[in-house]
Amino acid sequence: MPEARGSAGAASSARPRVLPPLVLDDLPDGIVVTDGDGAIADLNVAAERLLDRPRADLLGTPLRRALPLQDTSGRRWWDVLLDTARRPVGVSEDGHGERLLLLPGGTELLVTARFHRDETGTLLRAVLALRTPDERRRAETDTASLIATVAHELRSPLTSVKQFTASLLRRWDRFSDDQKRLMLSTVQADADRVSRLVGDLLDVARVDAGRLTVHRRPMDLATLVREHVDRLRFAGYDDERFELTVDADLPELWADPDRMAQVVTNLVDNAVRHGAGTVAVGVSAETAPDGGSWIVLTVEDNGEGVPVENRPYVFSKFWHGGTRSGTGLGLYVTRGLVEAHGGDVDVDAAPTGGARFTVRLPAGEPVATVA
Ligand SMILES: Nc1ncnc2c1ncn2[C@@H]1O[C@H](COP(=O)(O)OP(=O)(O)OP(=O)(O)O)[C@@H](O)[C@H]1O
Ligand SMILES: [Mg+2]
Repeated sequence: MPEARGSAGAASSARPRVLPPLVLDDLPDGIVVTDGDGAIADLNVAAERLLDRPRADLLGTPLRRALPLQDTSGRRWWDVLLDTARRPVGVSEDGHGERLLLLPGGTELLVTARFHRDETGTLLRAVLALRTPDERRRAETDTASLIATVAHELRSPLTSVKQFTASLLRRWDRFSDDQKRLMLSTVQADADRVSRLVGDLLDVARVDAGRLTVHRRPMDLATLVREHVDRLRFAGYDDERFELTVDADLPELWADPDRMAQVVTNLVDNAVRHGAGTVAVGVSAETAPDGGSWIVLTVEDNGEGVPVENRPYVFSKFWHGGTRSGTGLGLYVTRGLVEAHGGDVDVDAAPTGGARFTVRLPAGEPVATVA
């Protein structure tokens, strides 16, 4: 293998730096190249390290001996693979994506394979990328900690429900009506929290599986916003806190009212929770690039806004920031719902510097219902 490493540190900053050509040794994954008969023709330093044998020992060795990998059903991977690789073009696949395979002794390797052939389909070369499953394990650990987070979020309201109901049942006669009402409303709020979280998780699963269904019918977005704002006022928020601006002569919106209620709730509740000051909601119309119309919903607040560097992340699953953050599912679900309607949602800054979320939905009757 050519040695192409060199020090670029000495190059003057005025001259453009010429990078040495990329070589196999630069790659973080182990790379093993075989000839058409399956003998090792080349490999990089990372592969030497993974296989724990020097290059000189490995070159020319049949791969089935150097790398006696088995799949988890006990099949010899290389024999199965070679069988596939020898088939003519068009019949065989071009290799395989990442597979978990075992070395003798149980060491796990993740292997990706690519075949190169001549025009008759004869194998000329196989290129294999090898890596240890550490990264994947780290991802699994992340998933485990996410499950722990969700379980914790579910358990804390349930614990409170259990404690309050237990006290009420045990000492019903000793509580005053006011105390009972307070305890029951706490129980109700906690039950709402659990049911919202479970609903979000179900929607996340639907978004991930591409199975979010929307039942569109003509609906009035402005009324829906008004109703949500009224609910917040009823729940004790200041009247002055909300401002609603609705354009006259809006085109007809065909959307799923329940799903749109979720979008409005998520965005307005975020503005109240993560933002500050007046929350201004606008419903207007815009001309789409294809000449059609969009109904545009904007939710602005007077808080600190979403920093520019965080904007590409806020719609990601479980991403949350700041001191008053929740599970980080609201915007992920919101984006999934809006996209299921053929629209999009974005964040930038309001003129006051607070956050501005903008939802654009195609107006008019849809050609076909998107699932
Ligand atoms: N109006 C806003 N102003 C400032 N930051 C916001 C605003 N809306 C959202 N964010 C930021 O985006 C993050 C993600 O929002 P998202 O709604 O997905 O999650 P969440 O509100 O933290 O939890 P959940 O909605 O699941 O209860 C929030 O944690 C917050 O940091
Ligand atoms: Mg939220």
